[in-house]
Amino acid sequence: MESSNNRNVKNECIKEPLLIIENCEPDLSEWLGLEYNHVMKIWSNTIFTNIPESWNNNVNIKFKNSNANHVYEIYSEYKFIVLDPKSDVTLSVNDFSSADGIIIGGILGYEKFTGNTSRYITKHINKKIVRSLGKIQLSIDSAALVTKMVLLGIEMNDIELTDSFEIRWNDNESTILPYGYVVIDNKVIFTPGLMEYIRKKRDT
Ligand SMILES: C[S@@+](CC[C@H](N)C(=O)[O-])C[C@H]1O[C@@H](n2cnc3c(N)ncnc32)[C@H](O)[C@@H]1O
Repeated sequence: MESSNNRNVKNECIKEPLLIIENCEPDLSEWLGLEYNHVMKIWSNTIFTNIPESWNNNVNIKFKNSNANHVYEIYSEYKFIVLDPKSDVTLSVNDFSSADGIIIGGILGYEKFTGNTSRYITKHINKKIVRSLGKIQLSIDSAALVTKMVLLGIEMNDIELTDSFEIRWNDNESTILPYGYVVIDNKVIFTPGLMEYIRKKRDT
């Protein structure tokens, strides 16, 4: 009998479940906009929740689908996979069959895990399956990409991740981002436009 993983990899028409990005950031920085734009490219069936009305006029991002309310106010009856670093159980492809959607925190990373996913999201969700994407703190867009790869049948153990990302400006200077990014064919899948943004900030 085929394993569910094999079955999913062969299935060319996997339905994309609903992905919710529950925004927890008070300000729409250019960095946040770049990560959110990347998420919309990775996952078309995405809704951004807890988005202030004023953010819809921002020039850096055009939300395809957003809502001013929290995910737990809009979808109180849904059963969600909540991606929370505090969980001891790693996401697997079988988790998707019993959930109505997935929630990723719209939370920018810090040096270390802060517990904010748990504090601002997980504890407010009624029906949930709480899952980890491993010990490395992924950027928001990388979390969406890893989730998509698992949905497509790739096991977490087979997904190559950086534990940080160094941008070398010259022989003496570099910027290190302490977050995980996916590596495919030796290429780091980095947020489009982010390197240019960091360079611009560094030069001003
Ligand atoms: C940059 S992370 C912020 C993590 C937050 N500082 C914390 O400690 O909870 C953005 C989001 O991506 C998801 N995420 C990132 N890394 C993860 C991991 N290793 N396991 C589970 N979810 C992760 C979570 O949904 C998280 O809210």
